Amino acid sequence: MTSITDPIDSSKNYIIHSENLAALKALCPDLQGKVSCIYIDPPYNAFMLNDPVNDKDRQHRWYDDSMDPTDWVAMMTDRITLMHAMLEEQGTFWVSINDCEIANLQLICDKIFSKENRLMTVIWEKGGVLDDLTPYIAESHDYLLAYAKNKASCEQFIRTNLKQLGCGTIWSAKEVGDTFDALNEVAAFNEKVFPTPKPEGLIHRILSIATKPNDLILDCFGGSGTSGAVAHKMGRRWVMIEQGIQCLTHIIPRMKSVIQGKDQGGVSKLIGWQGGGTFEFLDLTILHAGSFLNFESHQGGPDLSHRSSPILRQYEPPRDNSNLDHPEASKIQESTRVQYTFPAVE
Ligand SMILES: C[S@@+](CC[C@H](N)C(=O)[O-])C[C@H]1O[C@@H](n2cnc3c(N)ncnc32)[C@H](O)[C@@H]1O
Repeated sequence: MTSITDPIDSSKNYIIHSENLAALKALCPDLQGKVSCIYIDPPYNAFMLNDPVNDKDRQHRWYDDSMDPTDWVAMMTDRITLMHAMLEEQGTFWVSINDCEIANLQLICDKIFSKENRLMTVIWEKGGVLDDLTPYIAESHDYLLAYAKNKASCEQFIRTNLKQLGCGTIWSAKEVGDTFDALNEVAAFNEKVFPTPKPEGLIHRILSIATKPNDLILDCFGGSGTSGAVAHKMGRRWVMIEQGIQCLTHIIPRMKSVIQGKDQGGVSKLIGWQGGGTFEFLDLTILHAGSFLNFESHQGGPDLSHRSSPILRQYEPPRDNSNLDHPEASKIQESTRVQYTFPAVE
């Protein structure tokens, strides 16, 4: 069995349970310039705008969606700076967002990638209902901002793929699915609702435009694991990072189900997915302490000099991995130092 002290192997797939700034810093030395496509779906900071009384009790409990906008900008700037460094020259960066922070996000991305490397802004018809969380006007679309590391290096490839797919910059629910499809896809492997998943069809469209088989895909706001599931089914390599308990309750069961060929939802039928492959699981939550998180990119660019960070400490491998199936994921959190390899057939 490999040890947690080994470098990340860019030919493997990884689920990383971690705060993503810490994980990105740790991954950067091994993956710098190697990632072909980054897709992220960060918290939209939606409760700052949608909730007139900013009543935190009405929020879902899965993650914080009501940061101070200045903090949100700082949070995204730090992470996108690192992700930019991890992209290969032909690589592309895709980020989902809605009205709340699109203006700030575009400024951040223009600054890090430069305006010249904007690829497109997509409107995705996500479906909308008037409910408790959207008290005034039902918002029926999200945006996708797409940037290139170096537009000249990938423009022809992207153009050819767009032409083949026959798609422009408005992606309908009929073509790529909507939020209700996404919720059903998640419900198929965990009846506990994760509230904000994306449909597999949406990620399939992005990866069809921006990647080829065997490319490495990164998503550091993993949620329920949609990006990894689709990347896996499409024969891409992937790394997903998620700090919440959903890493254990949703992402791991989902990827196991994909690998075992049991997941026949989402884009499985379209692709003819039969199962196969492996992933490794790293739990870095125990390492989130002290100076490891003390990273301030606005004061002089990304600090990539942490090769001897605590992530390199030696941890004993677990005796068995059967408790990963246990619904009470807290048990897994207690036994933190973990690296598992799941075979295609158990
Ligand atoms: C909108 S959800 C992503 C949903 C995902 N695209 C899907 O299809 O399921 C955003 C996720 O980012 C995670 N997240 C937020 N901040 C994070 C951080 N600093 N580090 C790691 N994960 C984070 C949240 O816990 C949440 O699960």
